[in-house]
Amino acid sequence: MTNQRKLHIKSYGCQMNVYDAQRMVDTLAPEGFVETANAEDADLVILNTCHIREKAAEKVYSELGRLRLAKDEAARAGRDMRIAVAGCVAQAEGGEIVRRAPVVDVVVGPQSYHHLPQLLEKARREGRAIETEFPVEDKFSALPAPKPAAIRARGVSSFVTVQEGCDKFCTFCVVPYTRGMEVSRPVARIVDDVQRLADNGVREITLIGQNVNAFHGEDENGKPSSLGRLLHRLAAVPGIARLRYSTSHPCDVDDALIEAHRDIPAVMPFVHLPVQSGSDRILAAMNRRHSAADYLRTVERFRKAREEIAFSSDFIVGFPGETEDDFSATLALVAQIGYAGAYSFKYSPRPGTPAAEMRETVTTATMDERLARLQELIDGQQAAFNAAAIGTTVAVLFERAARNPGQIVGRTAYLQPAHVMASADIIGQVLPVAVESLERYSLLGTLAAPSAPLSRAVPPVMTTGA
Ligand code: 5AD
Ligand code: SF4
Repeated sequence: MTNQRKLHIKSYGCQMNVYDAQRMVDTLAPEGFVETANAEDADLVILNTCHIREKAAEKVYSELGRLRLAKDEAARAGRDMRIAVAGCVAQAEGGEIVRRAPVVDVVVGPQSYHHLPQLLEKARREGRAIETEFPVEDKFSALPAPKPAAIRARGVSSFVTVQEGCDKFCTFCVVPYTRGMEVSRPVARIVDDVQRLADNGVREITLIGQNVNAFHGEDENGKPSSLGRLLHRLAAVPGIARLRYSTSHPCDVDDALIEAHRDIPAVMPFVHLPVQSGSDRILAAMNRRHSAADYLRTVERFRKAREEIAFSSDFIVGFPGETEDDFSATLALVAQIGYAGAYSFKYSPRPGTPAAEMRETVTTATMDERLARLQELIDGQQAAFNAAAIGTTVAVLFERAARNPGQIVGRTAYLQPAHVMASADIIGQVLPVAVESLERYSLLGTLAAPSAPLSRAVPPVMTTGA
């Protein structure tokens, strides 16, 4: 029996990293590693990094500074602490990381997690191991499947990667360089994963990928599938009550996906559809390959298929060359769509991307001011969207005990947290909740009779003017 060792993984950034962290835990479990919440007493600390914006990457270096102290402390106590950097900073910076932070023992890019045991062994022998190649073998099939106990411990909602990488080359984005070209997993493998999760209590699956609706994994007949067809297949897996997918590109929304929303009740009516900007000039400079009008038409197609669909989005303010008129077009688009929520970011030049070479930069003061105006508009829409749930009866998938004793928390179709007083038996069930009030972003309510009719859709929020 291998010695038990403690593993601490800290993930930054997107859902893909959360999922990858679980895969790393599964890969290292046969080596005797068990997870710990404390970096200080870990034998191996993995920072699973994000490179999407400058701030995210800088956080890694400050965390490595803190870990250097913890490693020294462990060495004084006669313990050998190993430090690994994984994720997109590892991929983008490779060996540069150990020059800036010599405390790092292992650097491993997202395509090489299945090699972690060998890399740790190499670091033990040679003092250091770095792997940021894009290996030819399929990382997914090389990664071990999670054990039933691990699945149960992770709860009733789970991510499943269906594709990775992106060939869209938006001019601001590092993803095509750090995660590589778009690769889709075969349908049969995804179905196996989902089946295993469902057999162990998972009720909700979020299919993830950097460009998830570009999914074209091979089906059982060796033909490329589509995300819409995959959703149909997965809805048939017994036990699966809810299906979601993230993140989509507006240009890859096809009829099969729209029809999946119309025809499959398990497909949740909440779509994350980043638009980044409402200005056609900026959209072109970003190489987004669609106009604001195209985006609006896509939103309308979804709404026609299922009127209760709500949207969230990502926005970048201060992209090089963004004028006040361009920014006004973004505010106008937000006002027209009416989002249930959205993320907005200040543009951050990423080395190696075309936008990083663009000269007409926007000042930080202007970016701050625009970000504040955009966030105010979005926050108002989100608050109105949440408030509209008060007095309605909505379906909630219960996930876990809340911090308040006696309360159980779950999520609505729109991912709003919903709290009720109830016994823990309801965890894993989808039940109607009569929503009574709103506390910040959380809905508070009481369990309604299981047969209580659900309220009609929360209507999309419309605001006028910006
Ligand atoms: N600067 C600012 N935001 C960015 N994003 C991606 N790259 C950058 C960048 N260079 C944002 C986009 C994307 C989200 C995941 O992060 O809005 O949709
Ligand atoms: Fe990056 Fe998304 Fe554009 Fe791909 S589609 S390059 S992941 S922003």
